[in-house]
Amino acid sequence: MNIIVTGGAGFIGSAVVRHIIANTSHNVLNIDKLTYAGNLESLSSVSENSRYHFSHNDICNKSAMEEVFNDFKPDIIMHLAAESHVDRSITGSADFIETNIIGTYTLLEVARQYYMELSDHKKIIFRFHHISTDEVYGDLEEGTSNLFIETTAYNPSSPYSASKASSDHLVRAWYRTYGLPIVITNCSNNYGPYHFPEKLIPLTILNALKGKPLPIYGNGLQVRDWLYVEDHARALFLVASEAEIGETYNIGGHNELKNVDVVKGICNLLEELAPHKPDGVVNYIDLITYVKDRPGHDLRYAIDASKIHRELGWTPNEIFETGLRKTVQWYLDNQEWVENVETGEYQNWMQKQYQDNS
Ligand code: NAD
Ligand code: DAU
Repeated sequence: MNIIVTGGAGFIGSAVVRHIIANTSHNVLNIDKLTYAGNLESLSSVSENSRYHFSHNDICNKSAMEEVFNDFKPDIIMHLAAESHVDRSITGSADFIETNIIGTYTLLEVARQYYMELSDHKKIIFRFHHISTDEVYGDLEEGTSNLFIETTAYNPSSPYSASKASSDHLVRAWYRTYGLPIVITNCSNNYGPYHFPEKLIPLTILNALKGKPLPIYGNGLQVRDWLYVEDHARALFLVASEAEIGETYNIGGHNELKNVDVVKGICNLLEELAPHKPDGVVNYIDLITYVKDRPGHDLRYAIDASKIHRELGWTPNEIFETGLRKTVQWYLDNQEWVENVETGEYQNWMQKQYQDNS
């Protein structure tokens, strides 16, 4: 098959591309605008493979998307391209509205035109897989055992999650109204190699190694359900290739943890894996700094992933302890990747974040 992956130079998209190239005989076309979050170095292991192709493009550009679809003739679209960072959506929401809503709308329209002209045989295979987030559901009460299920009502809190909720609604409307064959997945927090340094886990590892403060928003008791990125990539390919049209699947790691415990866990691992500390640091844990809370901060996310387990046989391979150890070791071994992605834009944005948060 020919598979388009949008956002394939990002954290999860690059894991999806690497997974498909390594484990199948399909062709992949990565469409990516290469924003601050997109890095082709995350794809160095597949870039020489003749089944991997790259199109440097913006998903909001309709004529460029039409050309790409007509040239590559996709059987499956896996749509991951998005602005993904909640904090950035709070300080500047325009790019989120543009890429996450207008970009998804553009792809849906291009896919619809393309689908209508396919042969009956090709129509049976075709899928538009929209990759979304558990943040569309809002948050769960701390201390309860409630879980997000596929029918939980949407209640997004941030500009990011509202833009993702909008895109989910558009995708369902294109199925119901136009019969475009879609599937949707909503996943919890991913972690693992190639995660952009602005997110909690890589930020904590990299700041600790530099002897910089480890910022915890508010009281740090917010709960996230962590999933190793390669488990997510495997789930996504399974859904894209095997799920029934029109279905939604929640994907999660059964790893509910408080933010403060995640940060402490990283500090403990670094004591073992990076014992030579920066000047002035006695214990990594001493770098923990409580800062101003994120506006609209969701308290708890937790996924019931029983549907994807029951219907498609997916279950995560990695438990948090082993996944976190691999992740910390990966950052220790890949300082060059980190230096290349920490551009001037990123440094400026982080500096402003620290000023605003202190
Ligand atoms: P990311 O920020 O690491 O990567 C996003 C990629 O999209 C980048 O390569 C970027 O260059 C590209 N991109 C952005 N705007 C574009 C545009 N207009 N046209 C083409 N490419 C564009 O994001 P991620 O963490 O890999 O997330 C991927 C998807 O998964 C997103 O849709 C996100 O909402 C969803 N998701 C993420 C998580 C998570 O924990 N990271 C969890 C659940 C769902
Ligand atoms: O739940 C899925 C979502 O997970 C995805 O849809 C998003 O794209 C992805 O970015 C992620 O969103 P979060 O906001 O949960 O991830 P982040 O790593 O930014 O933050 C995780 C938690 O840690 C959150 O409760 C905020 C907190 N935090 C974050 C940072 C960056 C801190 O306490 N300090 C920090 O410096």
